[in-house]
Amino acid sequence: MSQQFDFDVIIIGSGAAGLSAALHLPTTLDVALLAKAPHEEQSSYWAQGGISAVLEPDDSIEQHTRDTLEAGAGLCDPAVVEFVARNGRECIEWLADLGMPFSRDRQEVSRSGYHLTREGGHSRRRVVHAADATGKALQQTLEAHVGERDNVRVFDQHVAIDLIRNERRCVGLYALNLDKQRVDAFGARQVILATGGASKVYLYTSNPDGSTGDGIAMAWRAGCRVANMEFNQFHPTCLYHPEAKSFLISEAVRGEGGRLLLPNGERFMPRFDERAELAPRDIVARAIDHEMKRIGSDCVYLDISHKSRAFIKAHFPTIFKRCLEFDIDMTRQPIPVVPAAHYTCGGVVVDLDGHTDLANLYAVGEVACTGLHGANRMASNSLLECLVFSRAAARSIAAEIELDAARPRLARWDESQVTDSDEDIVVSHNWDELRRFMWDYVGIVRTDKRLARALHRSELLKSEINEYYGNYKVSADLLELRNLVVVAELIIRSALARRESRGLHFTLDYPERDDRFLAPTLLDPRDRVEPAKLVSI
Ligand code: FAD
Ligand code: SIN
Repeated sequence: MSQQFDFDVIIIGSGAAGLSAALHLPTTLDVALLAKAPHEEQSSYWAQGGISAVLEPDDSIEQHTRDTLEAGAGLCDPAVVEFVARNGRECIEWLADLGMPFSRDRQEVSRSGYHLTREGGHSRRRVVHAADATGKALQQTLEAHVGERDNVRVFDQHVAIDLIRNERRCVGLYALNLDKQRVDAFGARQVILATGGASKVYLYTSNPDGSTGDGIAMAWRAGCRVANMEFNQFHPTCLYHPEAKSFLISEAVRGEGGRLLLPNGERFMPRFDERAELAPRDIVARAIDHEMKRIGSDCVYLDISHKSRAFIKAHFPTIFKRCLEFDIDMTRQPIPVVPAAHYTCGGVVVDLDGHTDLANLYAVGEVACTGLHGANRMASNSLLECLVFSRAAARSIAAEIELDAARPRLARWDESQVTDSDEDIVVSHNWDELRRFMWDYVGIVRTDKRLARALHRSELLKSEINEYYGNYKVSADLLELRNLVVVAELIIRSALARRESRGLHFTLDYPERDDRFLAPTLLDPRDRVEPAKLVSI
């Protein structure tokens, strides 16, 4: 029998964004933290390189801001970039106070005492980290503190299905309890979406399985605008091995001197950009894609074997160990690498406090489009964004929440018209088809023709999936597929609307920047007028 739970605040997602929001909320509030999967299945856990922040006297907020704006190819919101850069130090100090085991600078060069690494687009060493497993350390630190909070109740194995609106505000959500196989209603005065990104919409991705864009699709269905969905970031270097699913080789490897090579040993990045291997990611990923196609190779190579074995093992213990499992000794040989979908720069439109278009609904972390990343996110700015915006959202909730307002009674989930699915194969087939055509037609290099083809395919799939959703009981796979097809369509429509190449969006039909398009791509679910631009999904 399904139930209704009521909380002051419900956070959907327990990655870096969701956990830190929970910790910043006042302990007087009743908080629920919902997550559909264990922590190994969220991006935060897998973060490697680190968190960018201005900590040294030779660095400045202005410089961090300038680097981010430059990487974002003209589409970042300068006020947001400055806001995030300015809050970096406090966030790092907050984490250090919680016990986050940041790597220390053994040579004692840095004033802060932290070892700072460097990544693409950063003009200085600015990235604090915990060796090459920053996400795992972060996740464990935050989880330990959330575990001590009596006011936070954790609901694992709960897949949020849809937000519930009462006229113009969000009053809760429905979620599938995977253990009990029933759908419960969750009422809340305030809801925070912290559901992460959508890179699973592509066949090859660095992301874990849960990155299916659920929050973006839910917010869209609830009437919120989304922006910049055409800017999906492809990380240049994921391990290329038939059995190595989704393993990233951190950009910090290039930051510490790693070079990209063709199979014949030739270094190629200097031909593409004067910053060579440390150019922003869009440039490096496109250069690799270009070279692989030019010479017909399945991968390129990343070589750091000129550094000492001790250096490599100290800085990259996780990567070293993982490569060895595939008989690749990175201290002696180059690592085979390929680009893969990595980060969703677009998302649900929010303001500086994380408010979405729908009252009482916030979005923080990768699900949101804050204006920080523009057309291309600079490395290690994402965890920082999670920290800065989750704190801002928690503060805003603390100030705005109306604890004496009446709670609406929520309608029970209605399953009277649906039956058990007898054709799960349809769901898995559609998953594969969607992710393949997104990779083939909406990847690193696009054309109008490929995008039109992808749009046609996604529309067909969408009607099939919606019919399926209307007839059968929900499952986690079906819910994720229903969200992925929405996200796919948002990406394709945004890409079709941008008739230029900028940042992560590159199209052979319009290969140059064109400043007539110097604005975020905004999609509005209420806008049903111009089919070529936006229609309701
Ligand atoms: P996530 O960490 O992805 O968490 C999402 C949460 O939402 C999960 O708990 C998930 O279970 C839950 N969820 C999703 N949908 C639902 C639903 N329907 N119902 C219930 N729960 C749901 N960024 C950096 O800044 N520095 C780095 O070094 C770095 N390295 C990276 C390395 C890898 C391999 C990857 C994949 C990403 C990396 N990034 C890095 C990006 C960064 O890790 C992510 O952008 C960031 O962790 C996102 O955090 P999040 O809390 O928004 O989402
Ligand atoms: C990496 O370590 O290369 C990932 C950093 C990021 O995505 O910000």
